[in-house]
Amino acid sequence: MGVSEKNLKCPITDDATIKPSYQVVNGIKICGGFIADHFIQALNYRARDDDIFIATYPKCGTTWTQQIVYLLLNKGTPPADAAEYFKKNPFLDMLGTDSVINMPRPGAIKTHLPFHLVPYNACAKYIVVVRNPKDALVSFYHHTKGIPGYKFASGTFDAFFECFLDGAVDYGDYFDHLTSWWNHRNDSNVIFLTYEGMKADIASAIYKIASFIDPKLEKALKKDAEFMQRVIKYSSFDYMKEQDKIVREIRYGTPSKSLDDQLIPLSVKAVIKNMAGPVSDSYAHIRKGVVNDWKNHLSKEQNDRLVQKFFEKCSGTGLIDLWQESADWI
Ligand code: A3P
Repeated sequence: MGVSEKNLKCPITDDATIKPSYQVVNGIKICGGFIADHFIQALNYRARDDDIFIATYPKCGTTWTQQIVYLLLNKGTPPADAAEYFKKNPFLDMLGTDSVINMPRPGAIKTHLPFHLVPYNACAKYIVVVRNPKDALVSFYHHTKGIPGYKFASGTFDAFFECFLDGAVDYGDYFDHLTSWWNHRNDSNVIFLTYEGMKADIASAIYKIASFIDPKLEKALKKDAEFMQRVIKYSSFDYMKEQDKIVREIRYGTPSKSLDDQLIPLSVKAVIKNMAGPVSDSYAHIRKGVVNDWKNHLSKEQNDRLVQKFFEKCSGTGLIDLWQESADWI
């Protein structure tokens, strides 16, 4: 049995005193397993006119949106293998500028930076997806517990809740991030979507994204029903859950396999090495994919404190109406 396989079987006992491992780079908290230099490169990246960014707070539907954009730009055909997946879906903050420079274009760049830190170009496009804070928090907890780079495998929901409420998690305060992009929701080079809206009506979201990238793409989708069907099918939760198993295996299951693969970019391998460690059996990036999972996690007191923080940070912004219909969250 290989070391990583052994690690996969490690029994994990919850410990309320443990906090996630972060590092602070240029004043910003990021995952302890990231490579600081890559993150600095991301902050200094000069956005090109033809860049398309998918800009989100973590756990708000980034991967889902990446998949939709990928399918739109590739005639509805999903990535053939892991190498193609990593090459064509660069995560700028984690992989640094090489990943973007080497990305086959047209393609989309993933970032979790708030508006004031994102590489900005008035001609570049920014696809922003937000998610109600309670479900984002729950998803972020599972992510932080599951990914070895955070060293939080035995951490508790209550401990993570306090970090989230204090804004002491990677990429900082959820509400600051949300309002930073909300203030630009009507900019001509920004499209502002909600995870809940995508869940309620994925076809409309796909048309909107297509039209934002290029009106010709929307026309092509409307003309070719099969193209549209492929985008819907290959961005569905069920399909992506299956695909996620492959990505997970590459990242955490047998690292040596991906490190030997000549086609996997070096920047990805560097992060795989840095992030190596025990991963919980129950961890899945494509986890549950539902709205209102917070009801299974938050106590009444936690719920009240989070709502109070929302009002402190967001009153007067109009954000109160954003999830009025799509999520039962206040
Ligand atoms: P849950 O943890 O609530 O299940 P991100 O990609 O920004 O990290 O977001 C991850 C969240 O999006 C996870 O939420 C994941 O399950 C959900 N997700 C990913 N793909 C999805 C899809 N096709 N449909 C619905 N939800 C999806």
